Amino acid sequence: MLEASSYKPMIKAVRGTRDLLPPDTALWNFVEATVRDVFRVYNFHEIRTPIFEETQLFARSVGEETDIVSKEMFTWEDRARAESEKGQSLTLRPENTAGVVRAYIEHKLWDRGLNKLYYIGPQFRRERPQKGRYRQFYQIGAEIIGPASAGSESPARDAEILELLATLLDRLGIENWTLELNSVGCPNDRAAYNEALRKALEPVVGQMCADCQRRAVTNPLRVFDCKVPADQPIIETLPRISQFLDEPCRQHFEQVQEILKSVGVKFQLNDRLVRGLDYYSRTAFEFTHGALGAQNAILGGGRYDGLSESLGGPSAPGIGFAIGEDRLVLALKQSADAVQRKPDVYIAPLGASMDREAARLARELRHHDVVAELGDETFRLKKSFEIASKLDARFILIVGENEVKADAFALKNLESGEQVSVPRGELAQKIQSGN
Ligand code: HAM
Repeated sequence: MLEASSYKPMIKAVRGTRDLLPPDTALWNFVEATVRDVFRVYNFHEIRTPIFEETQLFARSVGEETDIVSKEMFTWEDRARAESEKGQSLTLRPENTAGVVRAYIEHKLWDRGLNKLYYIGPQFRRERPQKGRYRQFYQIGAEIIGPASAGSESPARDAEILELLATLLDRLGIENWTLELNSVGCPNDRAAYNEALRKALEPVVGQMCADCQRRAVTNPLRVFDCKVPADQPIIETLPRISQFLDEPCRQHFEQVQEILKSVGVKFQLNDRLVRGLDYYSRTAFEFTHGALGAQNAILGGGRYDGLSESLGGPSAPGIGFAIGEDRLVLALKQSADAVQRKPDVYIAPLGASMDREAARLARELRHHDVVAELGDETFRLKKSFEIASKLDARFILIVGENEVKADAFALKNLESGEQVSVPRGELAQKIQSGN
């Protein structure tokens, strides 16, 4: 037989995916519990949509010309199994806004007025894996969507979302974030802007990358997504959407900024920020974080006032965001140890037939919310002590024949070394008091 350490895995996790193991999962749970708490006080409610959807949903909403749809989706043909069934193209969701808006239309959620929804779950994009960028990653997101009569279009909603995000990052102890803000205008503005962009691109596009040459014709706004260094000086000279906003869009954006100033949320205007998805209109934003390196966008979002209509639904202005949870966890200062509860007590059965007595005690203590780890009667006392201190348990509880007879048990504080005999009925309280 091979030494355990010389085994090589025959099958590994797929490239760009990874296992989240304890103690790191404690950090993820800390993040999710904090986030749920914050959503609760802002009156958001959870929605869970399927992990795969019809490919058409993403093509129509995120947009054919985006990197996500044109290069990064995990898509497959699902063949018909019976004559009554149709084959269809399905896709693992690359993001969750499209699914939420589909659900809004499918379940006529406009009957409920303004919907304030949040989600936590995996998303999938076939990007080149690196630190902070995975092919299965997790998003924590929220959407406010409803008929305009319910207030969904109001700049107050944009500001509420942004203030919520500032609160959330503060609550998680994440400092040094920057909120970058822009307005990408509405369809009115876009026609004139696209025209101006096409004109400005005409004489220079020949020097740009193949993607940009295509985008210049099909969807010139997407030129701003280009990461090719040689193209950046050209992109810097292009006209910006901020010069093309019509009066209602300009005022809307102005009001968002005024509310943000009044609640004390700092932001930077960035008129190059157009976000990599086609559904945005008016407010668009990203929060970046210095410690994350190249993948520094910790979250992004914006308005998508025309999205419902483009999916065949009624007018339903909306705004939302998605946080990259993987990146959020990377930006946390806390260590997993600090947010994890260690065992309060290690229960060490000592000698024959003591397993059943120890199991009884463990059950009683756990009912009192004591975190108890249960040993094994075949272990020598020395081994039990070793395990208890490896687990960083605060106490060890010895369950031997004499203890059972007396119905009082030897409880040793592993930090102070003090050992006392404690009657069964007082154990939980003694352990919880911590000394
Ligand atoms: P997004 O900017 O595509 O927006 O993604 C949001 C966040 O997800 C990013 O800022 C990043 O933190 C994280 N993320 C994206 N791709 C990866 C990846 N491959 N690995 C790790 N993290 C990643 C959206 O998805 C929109 N649905 C946000 C939204 C909601 N807009 C309105 N409502």
